[in-house]
Amino acid sequence: MERTFVRRTGRMTGGQRKALETFLPVYGMPLHGKNGGNIDFGKIFGNANPIVMEIGFGTGEATAVIAENNPYINYVGIEVHTPGIGRLLMEIEERGLKNVRIMEHDAVEVFNIVKSESISGIHLFFPDPWPKKRHHKRRIIQKPFTDILASKLQDAGYLYMVTDWAEYADVALAELSMTVGLKNAYTRFAPPQIWRPKTKFEERAIADGREIRELFFNRVSSAKLS
Ligand SMILES: C[S@@+](CC[C@H](N)C(=O)[O-])C[C@H]1O[C@@H](n2cnc3c(N)ncnc32)[C@H](O)[C@@H]1O
Repeated sequence: MERTFVRRTGRMTGGQRKALETFLPVYGMPLHGKNGGNIDFGKIFGNANPIVMEIGFGTGEATAVIAENNPYINYVGIEVHTPGIGRLLMEIEERGLKNVRIMEHDAVEVFNIVKSESISGIHLFFPDPWPKKRHHKRRIIQKPFTDILASKLQDAGYLYMVTDWAEYADVALAELSMTVGLKNAYTRFAPPQIWRPKTKFEERAIADGREIRELFFNRVSSAKLS
């Protein structure tokens, strides 16, 4: 699979830099467990609460609010953009969040090694739409990667995607509908999920006249699919 991102250096504030130095060693998560095997989420969080993984949290604006509102769910944010990671680390500290960890890794690599049927939810808020046709292969929501995502969800777990790019929404709807083990919780697009906060990114998209499309799929075991 093509890389779904281009590493941007981006400017970092002093606060973000400091947060990265001080808190990434505390809240950062390795790709592998100690023995090189799967990551043991229970060990890392110190409890057996459900795990929700977010792909590309940006600055973590939504992540921090959702985590604060749901202290009995553990959130693993995956991001490669360092200033954004610094920003979320600052929020974790300021809000005293105990249920957020960060993986500074390519989400494709991460999902390749997450244990099957081990997580409760996957969040994908405004994934890069890669609008040019020659870049479509960089889109993260496409088969066979959606098969891998589905395989990591527990029965009744969910995949929740939001996008401001109508054509990507249509393609993602088709790809997710074709993914064995996933079932649309609605017919076509989902209504806005009220628990998801509106971010600056979303407000800008709306101001620019783009419609927001939401997709919400559940994991169903193959027995239940037939
Ligand atoms: C358009 S931004 C949206 C950020 C945020 N979710 C929001 O709603 O504001 C997409 C983000 O996904 C990240 N991203 C793209 N592919 C990724 C991957 N394979 N692994 C981790 N992060 C990725 C990018 O670095 C970028 O920050």
